[in-house]
Amino acid sequence: MPQPRLLVTRKLPDAVEVRARRDYDAVFNPEDRLYGPEELIRLTQDVDAVLTCSTERWTPELIEQLPARLRIIASFSVGYEHFDLPALRGHGIVASNTPDVLTEATADVAMLCLLGAARRAWESQLLLRERRWERPKMAELLGLELRGRVLGIVGMGRIGQALAQRARGFGLAIHYHNRRPLPAENAQGATYHDTLEGLLPRCNFLSLNGPGGAETRHLINERTLALLPEGAVLVNTSRGTLVDDEALLSALRSRRLFAAGLDVFDGEPAIHPGYYELPNCFLLPHIGSATVETRDAMGFRALDNLDAFFATGRAPDALN
Ligand code: DGY
Repeated sequence: MPQPRLLVTRKLPDAVEVRARRDYDAVFNPEDRLYGPEELIRLTQDVDAVLTCSTERWTPELIEQLPARLRIIASFSVGYEHFDLPALRGHGIVASNTPDVLTEATADVAMLCLLGAARRAWESQLLLRERRWERPKMAELLGLELRGRVLGIVGMGRIGQALAQRARGFGLAIHYHNRRPLPAENAQGATYHDTLEGLLPRCNFLSLNGPGGAETRHLINERTLALLPEGAVLVNTSRGTLVDDEALLSALRSRRLFAAGLDVFDGEPAIHPGYYELPNCFLLPHIGSATVETRDAMGFRALDNLDAFFATGRAPDALN
């Protein structure tokens, strides 16, 4: 039997491409160009499957023009807001993601963002790199201590829980908001709030770990930011769309918020230029899952979904 033909839309880690090349008639993107809708339509005309990333948006207009031959789009991501699931279902195309495998790496980066923002890591880096460090100064670059303070987590799924586990080690008390409270063995003593409004006034640190998409767009805005205590820190490692950039920038400029630690941005990589101007932002270029082990595991998980689909007609991480 001929191997299924697979389009891989982005440059992936070597080990993942080696396996894809072995098991599929695979077409790669060695230059790692970002494909727009027209290019995706052209490139998918002779393929059975696509291995995509969250950088390609599978809109109803695009899906409309996909060939009948294309049966599955496996994403190299846990997030899946780039898929229009009803449109894919309507066209009989299965979509899958890569849950679980990036939990620990992303929770590490959430902790990095929290610490980087609380301890003014960016300003400290600049001082050194611009060769301005004259002598240790006892009353400058003072940050926030974590011990005894409260971390609020919005979205206490796998990554939120892994962050909570780390944060407890730093002496933070955990409060969270979710649609439903977690079972006691997962909550590990964290305090549940059934509304965001109930959670925010309690948080010295707030971490966003919920999904992207229309439902959570601008969850953090002028009104909700005003509910945080003076001097709070915001951390976002989920999706930039959760935050209204103008509202956050204004709270950071006025120092109502002490700082923000951000790994994700609305419209990334074209992020709001205001972030570059502010010293109290610790910024990372969406590296939550970027470890050797995790990126390999994500690619293997996406390929596992493709393999199972072509062997049995079912992808274990099917979303639709
Ligand atoms: C994910 O897997 O959703 C990460 O954010 C990378 O896109």
